Amino acid sequence: MIALSLAEIAEIVGGQAHDIPDPAARITGPVVIDSREVKPGSLFAAFAGERVDGHDYAVRAVEAGAAAVLAARPVGVPAIVVDDVQGALGALARAVVERLGTDVVALTGSAGKTSTKDLIAQVLDRHAPTVWTPGSLNNEIGLPLTALTATGETRHLVLEMGARGIGHIRYLTGLTPPRIGLVLNVGTAHIGEFGGREQIARAKGELVESLPSAEDGGVAVLNADDPLVRAMASRTKARVTLFGEADEAAVRAENVRLTDAGRPSFRLHTPTGCSDVTLRLYGEHHVSNALAAAAVAHELGMPVDEIATALSEAGSLSRWRMEVTERPDGVTIVNDAYNANPESMRAALRALAAMGRAGQARGARTWAVLGKMAELGDASLAEHDAVGRLAVRLNVSKLVAVGDREASWLQLGAYNEGSWGEESVHVSDARAAVDLLRRELRPGDVVLVKASRSVGLEQVALALLDAEGEVAGR
Ligand SMILES: Nc1ncnc2c1ncn2[C@@H]1O[C@H](COP(=O)(O)OP(=O)(O)OP(=O)(O)O)[C@@H](O)[C@H]1O
Ligand SMILES: [Mg+2]
Repeated sequence: MIALSLAEIAEIVGGQAHDIPDPAARITGPVVIDSREVKPGSLFAAFAGERVDGHDYAVRAVEAGAAAVLAARPVGVPAIVVDDVQGALGALARAVVERLGTDVVALTGSAGKTSTKDLIAQVLDRHAPTVWTPGSLNNEIGLPLTALTATGETRHLVLEMGARGIGHIRYLTGLTPPRIGLVLNVGTAHIGEFGGREQIARAKGELVESLPSAEDGGVAVLNADDPLVRAMASRTKARVTLFGEADEAAVRAENVRLTDAGRPSFRLHTPTGCSDVTLRLYGEHHVSNALAAAAVAHELGMPVDEIATALSEAGSLSRWRMEVTERPDGVTIVNDAYNANPESMRAALRALAAMGRAGQARGARTWAVLGKMAELGDASLAEHDAVGRLAVRLNVSKLVAVGDREASWLQLGAYNEGSWGEESVHVSDARAAVDLLRRELRPGDVVLVKASRSVGLEQVALALLDAEGEVAGR
């Protein structure tokens, strides 16, 4: 952050100084909401949560070196007192980003935000100092906290924006107004809370509505292959640029294939030239994410060769997304248990099949340990059935379906596609899956673990990676 004085901060957030001996003292450390993360010179923002009240930790934060507390009431240590701590944090972020004049890139979508944000960050950071959202801190608290880590050096600020309802993205874009806005896709995530895909599109589209006009440099980067995203072109004053497979896309991929390692490889086309890319990430759903990142980098003036090199070297920064680990005994575990939807299930299965190809001749097997895909509404049965069938069509050696109803649909799909005997099994929970796999796995086998977040199937991957590991709740 820029080193603002407590008096300046009080003015920005419209707060009252309490117990502050020196209003000219400056915030020289990070702004934090967890007192354990306080560094010398920090500003500690006290939030009252359901279980803990940050105000109870104010004294501890100052003892640990915080210069002051942003609080909703006096706390007996230096504090700037406001009515609404969240609103004040947002106002501070807005003021800091405005003063720094940092170029903001914001992105949203139903799936792939974090993966794409991590790609954009790694590409842009080669070009100029970049600050980005850590993990998935994409809400009304995480976003200002991230923005407040920008400094005078920062050229690009890459922010993931999440929404669970109408108005959420509008609020976030109000805090850190983006010049470049990227919308990845409109899927079914949180469809229940939104009340339908059109509502999701309405909410995500608030991002492009917030952009400056084309004359003022605003750019909307939209997925040409998603009709609901493409239609957002009519909701923005910004210049629109498309990425994807469609011919009209300015940034496209040609000759997409999966290497034997399960990594997507393609020829990247941009308006200024072409270059070859092989991602270090697994699964072809990352092609779309990589194109989105390339489109943003292109808009920021990066040459195509540099973009291609950066994409080819970018790794996974966030955990449990196609995280590949080889055990000492030669068993490979692919942990993709962070989340799942039909598209990423298919991509993950294809990656698994590609990764198993080389070992198959030597008798090594591929295992798909799958759980339910949540929030699919009426399409749920058909989608689970189709995934079970695809596992068989791709010649995956063993399907282990974990859980209740949806898992039985997965297994039934596999069975109806011609998988008998022990080729596909249905187990009740993670513990049973681990027991089965511990008995059966042989060197050379490749195991994919994937389901929606609520299933918590990472327990299986983690237990398999740690021979002594226990499944939680045992
Ligand atoms: N382009 C994509 N299309 C469909 N699914 C994807 C895509 N990219 C990633 N996924 C899937 O979505 C899961 C979550 O990916 P990621 O964390 O990047 O998304 P997110 O939008 O940030 O999610 P969250 O809403 O939890 O922040 C991945 O594990 C993968 O299964
Ligand atoms: Mg995320």
